[in-house]
Amino acid sequence: MSPLLEARALGKSFLDGGERRVVIDALNVTVGSGEILALVGPSGSGKSTLLNLLAGLQRPDGGSIHLDVGGSVVALQDLGEAQLTRIRRRCVGYVFQFFNLIPTLTVRENVLLPLELNGLMTFAGEALARLTTLGLDHRLDDFPAHLSGGERQRTAIARALAHRPRLVLADEPTGNLDHANAERVVDLLVAQVRSLSCALVLATHSDVIAGRADRILRLDG
Ligand SMILES: Nc1ncnc2c1ncn2[C@@H]1O[C@H](COP(=O)(O)OP(=O)(O)OP(=O)(O)O)[C@@H](O)[C@H]1O
Ligand SMILES: [Mg+2]
Repeated sequence: MSPLLEARALGKSFLDGGERRVVIDALNVTVGSGEILALVGPSGSGKSTLLNLLAGLQRPDGGSIHLDVGGSVVALQDLGEAQLTRIRRRCVGYVFQFFNLIPTLTVRENVLLPLELNGLMTFAGEALARLTTLGLDHRLDDFPAHLSGGERQRTAIARALAHRPRLVLADEPTGNLDHANAERVVDLLVAQVRSLSCALVLATHSDVIAGRADRILRLDG
């Protein structure tokens, strides 16, 4: 079976005080359809950078990223911004470390936003039911500022999954939570991803959380 995502010879460097610092160097990454891959490595090893490259949020300096968008495989590095945005919006769900919820929208509105953007309001019932599964049914009309860290993170997960993306990318989704809440949120994320059969690439500093993945990729920095 062909992979959902195949990155080959990926490279990314940044200018750091006048010097070029290589963060991702000739990296190959394959993610199978429905596979859960944990990204681990010390701070600064490039986990967030790699997630951003895989999401098409940043461009690699070199290499290729092929994504199966359903029926066809696209080369992200060859796409223009408009096409990249369209594919990211439809095929990718991103759980940001600091939530990135829209402060002027309620929990319900944040979660329905990707459905509106994709013309997929038929998934609205399922997306709202997921908020109940995630224990947020009493928070639907609240704004992010009034939620706890765990509630914000669960809202961000519900938003990332609403449009049933093929690929979910999560950047230390529990980095701001206490131990018990972190494991609970990851268990919910993994259960939801499994039930939707979407693939998940999850950056984490926690061995316990990495242990929930099918496979672990170590970045050494
Ligand atoms: N836009 C940028 N401009 C310059 N340097 C950057 C940029 N983004 C990342 N870097 C550098 O790239 C390296 C990797 O950063 P990255 O955020 O990917 O690491 P990380 O593994 O996610 O770390 P952490 O575990 O702390 O989140 C760091 O040295 C960082 O300073
Ligand atoms: Mg990071």
